[in-house]
Amino acid sequence: MGAVLIVDDQEDLRFSLAKVVEKQGYCVTTAANGKDALDALRSTLVDLVFLDIGLPDADGIELIGAIKEIGDDIDIVMLTGINEAKTAVASLRAGAVDYIVKPFDLIEFKAILNRILQTRLMRKKAGLLHREIGVGTILGTSPPMLRVKEAIEMAAQVDSAILITGETGTGKELAARAIHESRTGQNGVFVKVDCGTLSSNLMESELFGYDKGAFTDARSEKKGLVEVANGGTLFLDEIGNLPIDLQPKLLRLIEESTFRRVGGLKDIQVKIRIIAATNAELEEQIDQGKFREDLYYRLNVVPIALPPLRDRGEDVLLLADFFLQELQRELKKNLQGFTPEARIKIVQHDWPGNIRELRNIIEREVIFNKSGWLAMSGLTFESQMTAMKKEPLPSLKEMERQYIKKVLNAVNNNKSKAARILGISRTTLRDSL
Ligand SMILES: Nc1ncnc2c1ncn2[C@@H]1O[C@H](COP(=O)(O)OP(=O)(O)OP(=O)(O)O)[C@@H](O)[C@H]1O
Ligand SMILES: [Mg+2]
Repeated sequence: MGAVLIVDDQEDLRFSLAKVVEKQGYCVTTAANGKDALDALRSTLVDLVFLDIGLPDADGIELIGAIKEIGDDIDIVMLTGINEAKTAVASLRAGAVDYIVKPFDLIEFKAILNRILQTRLMRKKAGLLHREIGVGTILGTSPPMLRVKEAIEMAAQVDSAILITGETGTGKELAARAIHESRTGQNGVFVKVDCGTLSSNLMESELFGYDKGAFTDARSEKKGLVEVANGGTLFLDEIGNLPIDLQPKLLRLIEESTFRRVGGLKDIQVKIRIIAATNAELEEQIDQGKFREDLYYRLNVVPIALPPLRDRGEDVLLLADFFLQELQRELKKNLQGFTPEARIKIVQHDWPGNIRELRNIIEREVIFNKSGWLAMSGLTFESQMTAMKKEPLPSLKEMERQYIKKVLNAVNNNKSKAARILGISRTTLRDSL
């Protein structure tokens, strides 16, 4: 994927360029002036901007700066007039990657468009772009996360089905999308199915479709999601909820890449990547007779287990900073950051809802914030409560010690890092232990 913004006050040009971008399979937004352009950039993630140098309300060069402030890895290509060669050079200095001189033909435009977006895709694959979380880049540098990323890379290279496990909010869907992206690139769709929402009958026709006359209401044939996903990825979320009588059909799909529609007489061949996810213990469900063992083994050829956030060390701070920036952009806020105490609270908290919980709490804080500094006040109560439930209230010194130990633990015993997070010197840190 790639998202493009076209900024030009000339309506027909905007229109024809947008058409080209769409035809190439990318997302496109347009804006007729500088203000709308900046608004659009704040509310959506954009990879590439084509920017007219002479807008009615803004100076092109200044706009480059404003755009880079919104996202410093947004690529900008200037659209300049024949007499604006000087400004074109100045815009390159200001951070644009290229320029096209008007009037240009659409072939030239298409070449630049593809070149830049392809390069971005490669950079993204190499892990150099971190902004597009939804589309492939998974944040995290803790050892368990590095192992997961390795597993994802490996998984992406083989055709077998994949089982992603992990607590709620650990990023299972994100991982599935990352696998999809790194494998299929821009081709193929990602079809998500929640396995627990429908009754067995409905689920069967939803997944596999039906032929005309399959049942009373089936007046015409209907493609199921499996057919829709052909050439791409079928993501089976909460696979543990898949009704047991449908499981053999899925097994056959995985093993032979064929299936039959409901009421259908012929086998249909498809080429899809199957990724299943669950936050339940499938072994337990097997023992209870709710999940087929053979299906489990088929899915579990390449297991990917996402660690809970509390086991991901300093990733939690990395993610917190990332979400803070992202949310500020989304909610158009300009805050100072987390207070040192807030950072400790973030490290200390157990995060039962994992990354989703982290993002939600930060969102709430950003929305209600008045002072400019985020105190993560939502966390105090919870963490004290859990601390009190676990053990009798320790002395202040002891509490401080435990605190420091937790932070140390979270940063893999890196004392300088812990001291930095705690806002104390390394000596004080050592003396307090
Ligand atoms: N490593 C990561 N970097 C950045 N954002 C992440 C990461 N992992 C998860 N997220 C974000 O956290 C949220 C939850 O992730 P996701 O929906 O993938 O979790 P899940 O495991 O499918 O949860 P559930 O079991 O509740 O469906 C999403 O907004 C996702 O974009
Ligand atoms: Mg999910």
